[in-house]
Amino acid sequence: MTFLELHPLTAAELSAVVKLDELCFGGLWTRSGYERELDSPSSQLLVLEARRETKESGFPIVSSESFTQNSLKAEIEADPTSQKSLLGLGCYWSILEEAHITILAVHPNYQRQGLGQLMLYALLRDAKKRQLEWATLEVKPSNQAALSLYHKFGFTEAGRRRRYYKDTGEDALILWRGGLQAQEFEETLTHCYQQVERQLTLGDWQLWTDEAIEEAS
Ligand SMILES: CC(C)(COP(=O)(O)OP(=O)(O)OC[C@H]1O[C@@H](n2cnc3c(N)ncnc32)[C@H](O)[C@@H]1OP(=O)(O)O)[C@@H](O)C(=O)NCCC(=O)NCCS
Repeated sequence: MTFLELHPLTAAELSAVVKLDELCFGGLWTRSGYERELDSPSSQLLVLEARRETKESGFPIVSSESFTQNSLKAEIEADPTSQKSLLGLGCYWSILEEAHITILAVHPNYQRQGLGQLMLYALLRDAKKRQLEWATLEVKPSNQAALSLYHKFGFTEAGRRRRYYKDTGEDALILWRGGLQAQEFEETLTHCYQQVERQLTLGDWQLWTDEAIEEAS
C-alpha cells in the first residue's frame, strides 16, 4: 500500500512541481511562476505526494515491494534520501466569488487511477469552504480525458476563446460550474469522492488525511 498526501505547495517542492509541469504540459508555468503562486493569497495550489515511512514522519511502513509496479520505486531508488514523489498538482485562483481553475495534472505513469478526480474534488471542496459561488476553467476541445472529468463534476460549456492555445492554435472551451453552495453540489462532491475512495482502494492507495495525521501524532 502506498500513502497519498494532499497539501498546499511549499517552497521545498518547487523543483518537483516544475518537473511535473514539464512532463504534463511541456512547461506551462516556469519556476518563478510557481513562486508567485506561493506568494499569492488568492492562489490555492495543492500537490499530491506519494510517501513512504520515515522514523521522523511516523508514516506507516511501506515495503519496497509496494513500488514494483511503477516508476515510483525507480525514482525513490535513484534518490535514496527522497521519501516522497510528486504525482499531481492542481490550482485555482479565487477572484471575488469565482474559483478559476488554472492547472490540473497527474503524472502520466499514474493516470486513470482516480488521482485527477481526487485533486479536482479537493480544489472544489476548498472553493466551497471559502464560500465561492462558481468555478470556471479553460480546456482544449481535444482533451477528452479532462472534459470527461470536468463533466463528472457538473461543468458545462459556457463559451469559447478563439485560438487561445499558442502551441496548437486551438480554441479554448470555457467550462463553468455554478451553485457551489447548493445542496445539489454537495451531493455531486460526495458522489465523486465515494467513487474515488473505491478506486484508491482497488489501486492499493491509502489517503493520508489531516485527520489521520492528527490521530497519529
Ligand atoms: C486530465 C487528468 C488530470 C485526469 O487525471 P487522471 O488521474 O487520469 O483521471 P482519473 O483517473 O481521476 O479519472 C477521472 C475521470 O476522468 C475521465 N478520464 C480520465 N482519463 C481519461 C481518458 N484517458 N479518457 C477518457 N476519460 C478519461 C473519466 O471521466 C474518469 O472517470 P471514470 O474513471 O469514471 O471513467 C490527466 O489526464 C492529466 O494530467 N492530463 C494532462 C494534463 C491536462 O490535460 N490537464 C487538464 C488541463 S485543463
